[in-house]
Amino acid sequence: MNKDSALYYRAHVFCCTNRRPEGHELGCCASKDGERLRNHMKKRAKDMGLDDVRINGAGCLGRCASGPCVVIYPEGVWYAPKNESDIDEILSSHLRDGGRVERLMLDNRR
Ligand code: FES
Repeated sequence: MNKDSALYYRAHVFCCTNRRPEGHELGCCASKDGERLRNHMKKRAKDMGLDDVRINGAGCLGRCASGPCVVIYPEGVWYAPKNESDIDEILSSHLRDGGRVERLMLDNRR
């Protein structure tokens, strides 16, 4: 029987901010504005009063070619936001309203 307690955060968001050296064959999310987008997401989530949502910077999430990568748990939904407007849409549509931003979602099939 599973005795896990209730979630500490309603949602936990990991934003890849991994940086690799210039010219590295895998590239990195930092070179695609990952840090700026993470910072924007943290600020906007606070402004929106999403106190039960945690936004964290993360190291490489293993999907470098698709970055900048963001993954939201507990759902396990992945996004590739390209700008602040995309982040705002994820915050309002997914994290506030419980929907999805399908145009920004990454395919989870392996
Ligand atoms: S560098 Fe961001 S997923 Fe690998």
